[in-house]
Amino acid sequence: MEDYIVYSLSQNKKMAKKVADSLGATVGRISFTRFSDGEIMVKTLSNVKNKNVIIIESTFKHTQERLFELLLLLDSINRSGAKSIRLFIPYFGYSRQERVSWFNEPISCQVVSKMIETANYDYLFTFDLHHPVIKSFFKKGIIDISTSEVFASYYLNYFKSNCIDINDLVIVSPDHGSNDRADHLINLLGGKKVILDKVRPKPNFAEHLSIDKDEVKEKVCIIVDDIIDTGGTIASAAKLLHSSGAKKVLVCASHAVFSKNCVNKLIKANVEDIVVTNTIEQRKINNVNVVDISSLILNHLK
Ligand code: R5P
Repeated sequence: MEDYIVYSLSQNKKMAKKVADSLGATVGRISFTRFSDGEIMVKTLSNVKNKNVIIIESTFKHTQERLFELLLLLDSINRSGAKSIRLFIPYFGYSRQERVSWFNEPISCQVVSKMIETANYDYLFTFDLHHPVIKSFFKKGIIDISTSEVFASYYLNYFKSNCIDINDLVIVSPDHGSNDRADHLINLLGGKKVILDKVRPKPNFAEHLSIDKDEVKEKVCIIVDDIIDTGGTIASAAKLLHSSGAKKVLVCASHAVFSKNCVNKLIKANVEDIVVTNTIEQRKINNVNVVDISSLILNHLK
């Protein structure tokens, strides 16, 4: 049995504990210091000499702070003689700024990727990366793990308890970015695919163009997306599917950013079931189901 130690700074503590327990490993202890000028110091209190280190930390809320803490922790662990470091960033903050969409904009995601890559680690993993181009920002590579498997097992149970026939199933990509995610789910569950055309007339506001109603009429539609943030994308897609005759609209998304009144917005749009993963740890939220991805982390340690 390899000698592992598992860390999380603040975002994925429950997951880190679960992974550590499954490996028979300890959870690494960390000290945080804030100096009078606002600078911080983060270091390991646990001994990592010759140990295989796993760090699980989503760079989320507040992304800048989390990112900097992570870089300092990595340096501390590197200097303390760890045998190997596997870094899991379940939700990759800044991933939606992966391109220039208007004059003079930075490619913030590339800047962040470069910062992470300057820290020394052996393997870097993430889940359902927003866009494949982000992989090209890493010279050393980034392993992008799909969460479709955990969603598929969730839905197989849901279909059984709600008497849903696979022949009635349509997997909906709410924009062209989730096309591959929809394909993965279809490979595991079956069903037909519909891709919606999304437009954003202004930031944080989504609208969808009309579709061929026959594709969704009387169907059970599962909208699959990587991120739910304001809920605008899913709410607009759900309204369109309902007005096109869908029997039921369900939603799954990997990363529950959930800003503002997001969940209420989805319920108002008659989304019957919402399921997300714990890449971003949540307190219990009414009407939201959470599936655990720690088994996927364990699979990647084999
Ligand atoms: C966009 O390309 C993403 O895949 C999501 O659709 C988007 O980030 C969701 O944001 P919101 O919930 O604010 O519409």
